[in-house]
This record gives sequence, structure tokens and C-alpha cells, in this order.
Amino acid sequence: MSKPAILVARAIFPEVLHRLENVFEVESNQDDHLFTPQELIQRLQGKAGALVTGSSRIDGAVLQACPDLRMVANMAVGYDNLDIPAMQAAGVLASNTPDVLTETTADFGWALMMATARRVTEAEHFLRAGKWNKWHYDLMSGADIHGSTLGILGMGRIGQAIARRAQGFGMQVMYHNRSRLSAEQEGQANQARYVSKETLFRQADHIILVLPYSAASHHAVGAAELAMMKPTATLTNIARGGVVDDHALIAALRERRIAAAGLDVFENEPAFAQDFLTLKNVVLTPHIASASVKTRKAMADCAADNLIAGLLNGQAKNPLW
Ligand code: DGY
Repeated sequence: MSKPAILVARAIFPEVLHRLENVFEVESNQDDHLFTPQELIQRLQGKAGALVTGSSRIDGAVLQACPDLRMVANMAVGYDNLDIPAMQAAGVLASNTPDVLTETTADFGWALMMATARRVTEAEHFLRAGKWNKWHYDLMSGADIHGSTLGILGMGRIGQAIARRAQGFGMQVMYHNRSRLSAEQEGQANQARYVSKETLFRQADHIILVLPYSAASHHAVGAAELAMMKPTATLTNIARGGVVDDHALIAALRERRIAAAGLDVFENEPAFAQDFLTLKNVVLTPHIASASVKTRKAMADCAADNLIAGLLNGQAKNPLW
């Protein structure tokens, strides 16, 4: 019996590719060429499955043009690149990679928040530029993390993992989410207190965004929310670019209406707003929150397992519908 044909749309770990090649007829992209939507459609012709990342958009037009497609495995927990209602209507299975990246992403949220509050990259740039010639009582003074109030917008698995880490820093945790956690979950999340979005923006010292991106969360943080924040507060975004209105954020940072921002994700990334580069009070990273070697390997394995289960047994391990 011939093997089903699949497309692996981006470069992945060779050992995961070999595992897929044992089961499928694989067209790979180890040169990591970024397909245009037209190229993606072309490559998907005759393919029963695809392993994709956030850079491949699977929408109604793609589905219509690729009638053989039966399953798309996303190598990410976020799946705003997949039009799930359209996939459901077309009977195309979809999966993501939850759980395997929770702790690594929470670690990075903390790293970025701490670097932002304590001005780590600004200080390093200062030192590398040869400007460090004397001690000064106020040199690169930032905001304390310990003992402060952490505000988490989006309290799913990653939000809760971030909250758990706050215990060691003696922080109060407040959160806002579409739905409130159970009392037991709040207890495990360092006694996190459910508050309105407005209370979170007005009272938190450090705000971290971990909510999924959708039409409903587009620009969830814009000029109005930034105006509510304390001038000493920081904002860290490890969610998705569209959650924040980047132009409103640039204005707030430039005018020092908030202290600083740590950004791992951007609107229209990787072609992000270049004005960020002119600001000292930002820490900028290229969407790497889940990028530990172990976790990226686990994500690739998880996506591969989903594709195998979905195409061979008709049931993905982590189905999205
Ligand atoms: C995710 O899993 O959604 C990440 O943003 C991709 O690394």
C-alpha cells in the first residue's frame, strides 16, 4: 500500500523528519524557504497532511485549492494561523502542541520581564559602547520584581505556570481571563486574585500578556489600557503581536508614560515596527519564548505524533476541533 503524502512546510529536526519518512511520502523544506500563499497551495497539491508552523496560514482559500488535505498539525500551541471553522467545515483535522512548551515559555516570560524591569539589555549596550567610566548612584536603576504586584492577562496553562513562579519572589498575583479559575487552580497559581481588566492595568507593577490571539483579543492592549498603567510599570508580551497596538505602545514608551516593555512578539513580525529600535526602554527578542532545545524538539515530536495519529487513525492527540 502506498504511503500517504505530506508536506513539512518548514525546516525541522532531521530525526523527526526521518520518523515521518518511515510513515509518509514526505516533501520537506529543510532549506527553510518561506512559502508565499501561492507556493504553499502548490506544495500542498496531492498531500493528505501537512506539518506547519505559525508562518503558514491555512484558510478557506487554501482548503478549497487543496482538496486532498485531511490533516494539518501546527508546531505551536497558538493556532491563530489556522482558520478552525473553515477546517471544520472542510473536514480537515487540526492539532497544536500544548503542554510540552508550558514551563519553557513561562521561564522565558520571567526572563524577559526581569530583563525589562532591571534594564539588562540597555545596561549591556551601555557597557559594550564603552560608556561605563564611573559608578553612579542611579546607574541603570530599574524596578524591583520581588515584593511587587504581577498582573497576568490570559490565565491558561502558561499564565498559571508564570504565576506559580511568583511565589519565590514574594509577589502578589492578579489576573484577568475570559473565565475565572477554580479556587483550587487559583490556590496553585500562588493565590492569584481574579480582577477586572481595568484593575489589572491600573494596579499591577509588571503586566505580562499570555492570552491567545483572535479577532476578540486584537489590540486588547491599546492606548486606553496603556494610559491606565502606572508610569513605573512594565509590560511584557509573550502572546502574539496583534494583542498589542504596537504604535500606541511606541508612543507610550517614547513619552515614558510607562517605564518599559519586553517584547517577544510583534505585529506583522518579522517585519516589526522599526521605531522600537530607537527606544532604550524596550527589550526585544525574535519570538523565542519556547526556544529551548529540549522543548523545540518536544514540539516537533508532538506535531509529528499528531500527524501520524490523525492520518493513520483519524484522531489527532491534540485535536483543535
Ligand atoms: C507557540 O507555540 O504558539 C509559539 O508562539 C511558537 O513558538
